[in-house]
Amino acid sequence: MLAKKEIVLGVSGSISSYKSVEILRELSRLKACVTVVMTKNAVEFISPLTFQILSKQKTITGLFEAHQEFQPEHIALSRKADFLLVAPATANIIGKFASGIADDFLSSLFLSMRAPILLAPAMNPTMYLNPFVQRNLSLLKKNNIEIIEPGVGEVACGESGQGRLAAVEDIVERVIQKLRRESSLQKHNIIITAGPTREYLDPIRYLSNRSSGKMGFALAKVAYQRGAHVTLISGPTNLSPYSPHINYIPVVTTEEMRQAVEHHFPQSTIVIMAAAVCDWQPLHPASSKIEKHTLPADFFKLQNTPDILEFLGQEKKGQIIVGFAAETTNVLEKAKGKLRTKNLDLICVNDITQEGAGFDVDTNKVSLIDIQHNVIHFPLMTKEKVAEKILDKVETLVKK
Ligand code: C5P
Repeated sequence: MLAKKEIVLGVSGSISSYKSVEILRELSRLKACVTVVMTKNAVEFISPLTFQILSKQKTITGLFEAHQEFQPEHIALSRKADFLLVAPATANIIGKFASGIADDFLSSLFLSMRAPILLAPAMNPTMYLNPFVQRNLSLLKKNNIEIIEPGVGEVACGESGQGRLAAVEDIVERVIQKLRRESSLQKHNIIITAGPTREYLDPIRYLSNRSSGKMGFALAKVAYQRGAHVTLISGPTNLSPYSPHINYIPVVTTEEMRQAVEHHFPQSTIVIMAAAVCDWQPLHPASSKIEKHTLPADFFKLQNTPDILEFLGQEKKGQIIVGFAAETTNVLEKAKGKLRTKNLDLICVNDITQEGAGFDVDTNKVSLIDIQHNVIHFPLMTKEKVAEKILDKVETLVKK
């Protein structure tokens, strides 16, 4: 199940370190290739040799060990790793991770990881509830480090409360789930557009719309997390892409967006046009500032911008193309019409008159319509959850 997956198992010093041996055995049984990295304190609890024999790999215990294989070791290991699991994660290592300290192999590896990370804390319940530990955990969570909550019960020192390492099978299951999700869009080149575009009337004034870009950026994040190579082409927003490994192309005008999309289109396998492209552009934009008392008669003469999505629908060669439709009336009918005329595979429609749906909010309420006119209605959800639903559906279309 985990064949060919390179997993790094970080072990820090806790009485529950012995359970890492069971975790290693389970991961190996599932055919993962596991490299164990131990902190200095962990070595006090359990011998590196135990891990070495079971993993059939050298156990790493120090930053300055002489390994011929990796140069420099923590960078090379982080590049080949598909996953970092730290179990048990003590208050100390959690504190180092959250503060960016890199004074041993495991903390240096953590900072250089690009692959997903799961921490399984284990410590005395009072330590676990300590506000500094809790602050560190929530900071890590905010930065997309997953935490598997410790269990409740009696801990080794005799006290009771929350602090026991989560059950081995639950930890292994989380690794499987996360890795499965991580790789479901591997080998796919996805173009995602986001945000509004602007059309300038003169060098200062422009036409645009209320799009915040949140939906498109959420799609880029989830697609990236599922292993896709993501090109995010966005009009002006206040957002930054989730990862520096997302190919981010900021644009301003519809023409710039069109050029960027068409440039990347031939290499893509999936395109999701979440951008709220400005529909009109001035027929005669002024090259210098128009003075306020000299409004030209044709100042607001407009023409349609090129429809990027329609062009992609005409030109597609096997790509899955997803459009968006923000509507206020006859929502489903209009969306079905767009699906057909733009030759799309899927359309995500939202009725922007509904509370919590549409522009500049963190939530959305959408329906998905495919070419068989199957309609799935979703309840109000965060834009990230909506992104997951859209990509789940895209994955089923890809498999067909
Ligand atoms: O026709 P309508 O503008 O409602 O269609 C919305 C969909 O078309 C969105 O996916 C949007 O990104 C895309 N679009 C486009 N080029 C335009 C206008 C909209 O690609 N000029």
